[in-house]
Amino acid sequence: MTAFLCTENLCRHFGGITATDCVCIEFDKNGLRSIIGPNGAGKTTFINIITGRIPASSGKVFFQGAEITNRPTHELVKMGICRTFQITSIFHNLTVFENVRIAKQVRAGGSLRFFAHRQSLKKVIGETWTILERLGLRDLADQPAKNLAYGDQRVLEVAIALAGDPEVLFLDEPTAGMSPAETKHISELIKGLSQEISVILVEHDMDLVMSISDRITVLHYGSIIAEGRPAEIKANQLVREAYLGKGA
Ligand SMILES: Nc1ncnc2c1ncn2[C@@H]1O[C@H](COP(=O)(O)OP(=O)(O)OP(=O)(O)O)[C@@H](O)[C@H]1O
Ligand SMILES: [Mg+2]
Repeated sequence: MTAFLCTENLCRHFGGITATDCVCIEFDKNGLRSIIGPNGAGKTTFINIITGRIPASSGKVFFQGAEITNRPTHELVKMGICRTFQITSIFHNLTVFENVRIAKQVRAGGSLRFFAHRQSLKKVIGETWTILERLGLRDLADQPAKNLAYGDQRVLEVAIALAGDPEVLFLDEPTAGMSPAETKHISELIKGLSQEISVILVEHDMDLVMSISDRITVLHYGSIIAEGRPAEIKANQLVREAYLGKGA
């Protein structure tokens, strides 16, 4: 059977550094896959290649049977492959509503002429409210994004990504810098989303990863060193050594 999303011998070099080293991975249609690994393991690079931010040096990416290697990001978003960034990337002076509405407009086809069609505008506005409601941001809709608490800004990033109607959503360290309460809130949102779409989570918070992931892939020096259910990864000696050094 064709994998929903997969890579074949994916590689990326930066000068003498191999950031992604012959990675073969398969993702399921729904569910929550976490990608973990020590700093510099190649997690962000891997996401950057799949989502079209940087080209692969070699290897291939397939989505629903079609090869999508090195396609531009806007094409991938149209196909349903969306992401958030490790560093917050919202429009700070726009309101929460405008941030999501603009992302929706871009998804819907994006030109200013688009707004000549009242029905289309109505639809975009309705869908924007649905996303804000879903992520608990409705009451903050009129706030400039810069006024939001840090945790809410990161939730807004997820809202912007959801405006792309993703089938696959990559989240790069969504809880970085969050308080425990904010982390709990966003982890529940992420788990909920993974019931409907494929969520691929890069995350350093091991308690979180172990509690919400369906499967975990571990990268080390750009290669996969382990893959399995949380309990299997917890018990894996290679994984312990990668994080804590030999003899762990
Ligand atoms: N643009 C670049 N130019 C040169 N080297 C890079 C570049 N991007 C990443 N690297 C190198 O590639 C390797 C993998 O980096 P990457 O950012 O993918 O790791 P990561 O697993 O996301 O790390 P972290 O957990 O710290 O976010 C590192 O050695 C990094 O220094
Ligand atoms: Mg990273």
